[in-house]
Amino acid sequence: MPSARRLTPGRNFGIISDVTGLHHTGIAGLDTRPRTMAFDLVLFGGTGDLTWRKLMPALFQAFRHGKLPPGGRILAVARDERSDDDYRTFIRERFVEVEEAKRPTDDEFARFAELLHYRRMDLSQPEHYAGLRQWLDARGAKTAVLFLATSPHLFTQICAQLGQAGINGPNVRVVLEKPLGHDLASAQEINRVVSASFPENQALRIDHYLGKPAVQNLMALRFGNALFEPLWRRESIANIQITLAEAIGVGTRGDFYDRTGALRDMVQNHALQLLTMIAMEPPAVNDADAIRDEKLKVLRSLKPFTPESVARDVVRGQYKGYLDEAKVPAGSACETFVALRTEVQNWRWAGVPFYLRTGKKLASREAHIVVNFREVPHPIFPGTSRPNKLVIKLQPEDGLELHLLAAKGTGGAESLVPVSLDLDFDKAFAENRIGAYERLLMDAIAGRLNLFVRSDEQEQAWRWVEPVLEAWRQDTTGPRPYAAGTWGPAAASALIARDGCAWAEEQ
Ligand code: BG6
Repeated sequence: MPSARRLTPGRNFGIISDVTGLHHTGIAGLDTRPRTMAFDLVLFGGTGDLTWRKLMPALFQAFRHGKLPPGGRILAVARDERSDDDYRTFIRERFVEVEEAKRPTDDEFARFAELLHYRRMDLSQPEHYAGLRQWLDARGAKTAVLFLATSPHLFTQICAQLGQAGINGPNVRVVLEKPLGHDLASAQEINRVVSASFPENQALRIDHYLGKPAVQNLMALRFGNALFEPLWRRESIANIQITLAEAIGVGTRGDFYDRTGALRDMVQNHALQLLTMIAMEPPAVNDADAIRDEKLKVLRSLKPFTPESVARDVVRGQYKGYLDEAKVPAGSACETFVALRTEVQNWRWAGVPFYLRTGKKLASREAHIVVNFREVPHPIFPGTSRPNKLVIKLQPEDGLELHLLAAKGTGGAESLVPVSLDLDFDKAFAENRIGAYERLLMDAIAGRLNLFVRSDEQEQAWRWVEPVLEAWRQDTTGPRPYAAGTWGPAAASALIARDGCAWAEEQ
């Protein structure tokens, strides 16, 4: 048995954790030990933004931390002609965009670069897939992971061609990055084509929010501790709020964003995935399908929208200045903000409002989940009422805050003051922190599927947002304008105030 070890405590909590145990048996499949298996990782879209902004830095961190299984090759695939060395130089140069602590030294890059290879492919040409197959077969790695970091309109074509070329054996996994479709029908079509070549357990849909350490901690908090579970229900919880706020605008992604909007970009996937993690029943075992079955049940229990409830329970906004952003069409009605109220219609959650909110150009970059508990049933401290709340912080820091009331000094009722127990995971687990893409890439290589979204979950999420998209298509009033640097349109506060509640920053 590994010995227990005390880590740096958070401000008010002492954390005692068996670091080895955490690593090897975490509730959400946290096993990140290097394994002795060779792998090939093929990055379609090897010169694109996602590859050099997110995937290469994540792979380098995994390499630096010794987490990349030995004997791996990383093959970037793109349209233009380059040598391996040209490609290595291309990636090396892009590391200047990465935060300094995560940039490689010359020596580190030289060693990392030995893993990098490049191959030109025209993705419409069957013989180019045959060439890729030869490249893979020549070594016969134990695992091949094919990451589609291309424009999503190529997903079906690539998957079909991979299937025809026979690059879909049981040791091959394909990883699909969002957006997966723009509505239910397009998502189903993608899933239909992908599943013709890759069975469900070989098709990994990434939602990078599931790779964030806070999400692992949410699973650990709920299912690794007995403390909260008895309270995790309608009898004790008044409402739950999920906020995914960004301070930046759409930047140079105006054309993509305008076709997407906040509902498709953040709610259908990231916000709903967090909601499922909060609301799901405890899975019987820590296994990908057991977890995903429970998440799917939550999605199926979400209160369906009607045209009337969309008008009442969904607020869409657009930041002032959005229409002046590059590549945004004149007069666009695209929403950059959404706030909504929903309910999970089952025994555990009946009647408990779930508020979701996301937007660009908001007051700060902040992602958190707030669980607001009910008032005490019989107050004996007159004039002091502040229900407990638990804040699960995803960004900018990653931690937990439990808000309580405490008696200050020797006074009476008037001296009850709010205090909080703070747990700062970034500090406490500094040496074990890994980024979302690093975790998900290592999971994809190792075949751990817990943190990937199953097709039925993804389709159910589309089914739920579709009536909102449809109602907005019919409604010509368009999104409500809001000033950059605020918390969105006033209607978002009114939405929650109607139930006698307030968003976290107003509490
Ligand atoms: C992406 C969205 O999925 O998530 C972006 O397409 C958004 O619009 C990003 O900016 C936010 O991710 P994070 O990890 O920075 O909160």
